[in-house]
Amino acid sequence: MVQGTQSLIRLASPDLHDEDLERVLNVLKSGELVQGKAVEEFENLLSGFTQIPHAIAVSSCTAALHLALISLEIGVGDRVLVPAFTYPATANAVERCGANIELCDVDPLSYVVTPESIEQYLKSNIQNQFKALIVVHEFGFPADMKAISEIAKRYGVLLIEDAACALGTSANGHHPGFYSDAACLSFHPRKAITTGEGGALLTSSSKLMEKFKQLRNHGINNHNGVFDFVEAGLNYRLTNFQAALGIGQLNRFQRELDARKKLAAIYMEELKSLTQIRLPKLSPGHSLQSFMITTQPGQRDDIKRSLANLQVESNLGAQALNCLTYYQNKYQFTRETCPNASTLFTAGLVLPLYGKLTPDNIRYICECLTKILGEGQ
Ligand SMILES: Cc1ncc(COP(=O)(O)O)c(C=O)c1O
Repeated sequence: MVQGTQSLIRLASPDLHDEDLERVLNVLKSGELVQGKAVEEFENLLSGFTQIPHAIAVSSCTAALHLALISLEIGVGDRVLVPAFTYPATANAVERCGANIELCDVDPLSYVVTPESIEQYLKSNIQNQFKALIVVHEFGFPADMKAISEIAKRYGVLLIEDAACALGTSANGHHPGFYSDAACLSFHPRKAITTGEGGALLTSSSKLMEKFKQLRNHGINNHNGVFDFVEAGLNYRLTNFQAALGIGQLNRFQRELDARKKLAAIYMEELKSLTQIRLPKLSPGHSLQSFMITTQPGQRDDIKRSLANLQVESNLGAQALNCLTYYQNKYQFTRETCPNASTLFTAGLVLPLYGKLTPDNIRYICECLTKILGEGQ
C-alpha cells in the first residue's frame, strides 16, 4: 500500500467529457435556455434507454415525487406506505401533499422492501386503507416489482417507484416505471449521471404523461396554439443547458453500468473474508449507484475518519425516517419502529464506486479497510 503518494479517491465523480461541456456551451450560446429542444432530446434518450414509453424531465427527483403524488390525487388525510430506509425526500413529498406516511422496514442485506413485508403491512392495516405505496430501489437494488405490483393491485393501492438511485436498474426484466404508475429519477451529482440538479418521471400512461407535463409548466394547456392555465401548476422544468449536460452521459451509460458491475465484484471478492463488516446483497439487475457495507455498531464514524486519513472518501448511506426529528415528533416513531433501517442508518458506510475508478483503486480501498479493522494479517 503506497500511502504517501495516494491521491484522494472521491466518493463520487461525474463522468463528464469535453463533448458534454461543448454541448452545454452551444446551448448557452444559442440563447434557448429554458425547457426546449435539448430537454426533448434528453427525454427521448431516456425513454429509449429505459424502454418506458414516456419520460418527462423535471428539476429534481423531489419535484418528480411531488408531481407523481399530486397527479395521482394523493392529498389531505391519505395514507402512503413508505420504506423507512431512504433519503427523506421520499416522505417529505408525501407530507407536502397533506398526506400521512406509514413506515415499512427494509431487508437488512438488499436495503429495500420485500413483497412479504409489504403484504403483511397491507393485510394488517385493512381497516385503514392505504391510498399509495412508494417503493425505493435504494442504491439501485431492484425491489421485486412484479410481485409488489400484484400485491398493490390486489389491495387497490397506487404504486410509485422512487428510482432516484435506479437509472439502469432492472427489476424482473424491466426498468423502473414498467410495473408502477410512475417512477421518479434523480440527476443530482451523487447519482450515476448528472445534470447538476435534475430529475425525470417515467410512465407508461399517456394520461399521466399529459398531466405531468401540464403540472411541471404552470398548469398551461396549449390547444392548437391557444394557451390557457387550466390547473394550479408549478414550475418544475429542467433547463436546456442542464439537459445538454446529461445527453452524452446517457449515451455512454451502458459502459458506466458495466464498469460499476466489474468494480463491485472486486469489492465483494476482496472484502468477503472480513468478519467485522457485512457485505450488501447484489443482483444482476442492480445498477450500483452506491456500494454500502454495514459496520459493527459504533464503528462506522471511526472507520470513515481512518479511511479519510488514507485518502479515501466514504459516507453514510441513507437515513432511517424513524430516527429523524420531524418524523419522530409527528408520528412518535422510535429507533425500534424499524430496527433494520435504524441499523443501516447508523452503521452503513458507502465506499467509492464509479466507472472512472480502476480495479487497483478498489483493491487499495479494500486494503485500507482491512488494515483499519486489524484483519487479514
Ligand atoms: C431515494 C432518494 N429519493 C429522492 C431523492 C431526492 O433527489 P433530488 O435531490 O434529485 O431531489 C434522493 C436524493 O438523494 C434519493 O436518494
